[in-house]
Amino acid sequence: MGTVVLGTGSCLPKRILTNKELESIVDTSDEWIRSRTGIGARRIGGKGEQAYQLAAKAARRALDDAGVSVDEIDLIVLATISSHMIMPSCACLVQNEIGAKNAFAYDVNAACSGFLYGLDLADKYIQADHSKKILVIGVETLSAKLNWKDRNTCILFGDGAGAVVAGYSESDHGLMGAHFGSDGALGDLLCMHAPQSLNPDLEIEGYPGSHVLMGGREVFKHAVRAMEDSVRSLLDAQGVSMESVDLVIPHQANIRILNKLAERLNIPQEKLFINVSKYGNTSAASIPIALDEANKEGLISPGDTVLFCAFGGGFTWGAVLTKW
Ligand code: UT7
Repeated sequence: MGTVVLGTGSCLPKRILTNKELESIVDTSDEWIRSRTGIGARRIGGKGEQAYQLAAKAARRALDDAGVSVDEIDLIVLATISSHMIMPSCACLVQNEIGAKNAFAYDVNAACSGFLYGLDLADKYIQADHSKKILVIGVETLSAKLNWKDRNTCILFGDGAGAVVAGYSESDHGLMGAHFGSDGALGDLLCMHAPQSLNPDLEIEGYPGSHVLMGGREVFKHAVRAMEDSVRSLLDAQGVSMESVDLVIPHQANIRILNKLAERLNIPQEKLFINVSKYGNTSAASIPIALDEANKEGLISPGDTVLFCAFGGGFTWGAVLTKW
């Protein structure tokens, strides 16, 4: 008995930016990007594809899939770090766009881990009141927050949105447990400044601009270690072995991170869902997009044990285990 995913949806911008096209933007190559990241292309938002618009489409698709009307939604929890506005929250923009007039709405910021943090919050609300139905959304338009002259970052990220409708089930299906961690001491390794202060006394010295900055190699090492530790802690706490997990849907940052994780945790390739080659790293959107694809491709059956794990700026990380 617990919190179940009633439906999934996603929305990707139309424009595909290939590695080949990036060769004319920065000093890079298709070969380098593929071999170091596993990324072949990413989607880039265009007109009418702001974060809230992509998120609203993903949300409508999740509602359709769940057979839930928008009026039944009590809460919208939205994970993002790249909405075009700081206030109103992207969640409130989505609420207005889809007409979810009975919902309250707010954003969570946990970078690439944000969707899982949001799912955990939804679980807590639903455990407290079984009648609640909640939209959990992950969306990014990071193309608007990249330094397109920095080959260390601009080749990695993409735009998109994914959403789930969460509700309560009397069956023995649902979220089994979660494990989360954060380490603010390492925040500088993967960060993005807000716009520069308009109060001279609060100006940031040496302001680098409001775009993603990353120490890639360090982030890589921490990502593998943190996700491994989180998954182990969660499986131990739940008394579940990796052999009995049917599908792992990790945050899609880099194929080499995922392969290392699979090696350390003994995850067979066929149980590891990977779509990073098509979309790059869509940060908070990557897990709900991947979940929607896995769901629509029929890769998840009722009763399957599905494991999610993520790592991102903050640092933030975590894992969630569910019986589908
Ligand atoms: O979403 C969660 C957070 N993000 C991540 O999880 C990303 C984690 N990090 C990574 O995925 C990898 O560290 C990167 C893909 C970012 C970089 O791969 P790497 O194997 O760690 O490369 P590196 O940063 O150590 O760079 C190796 C070389 C350098 O040249 P030198 O100094 O050896 O001459 C870089 O300047 O590759 C160079 N390089 C590039 N070359 C061509 C860096 N970016 C590029 C590029 N094209 N785009």
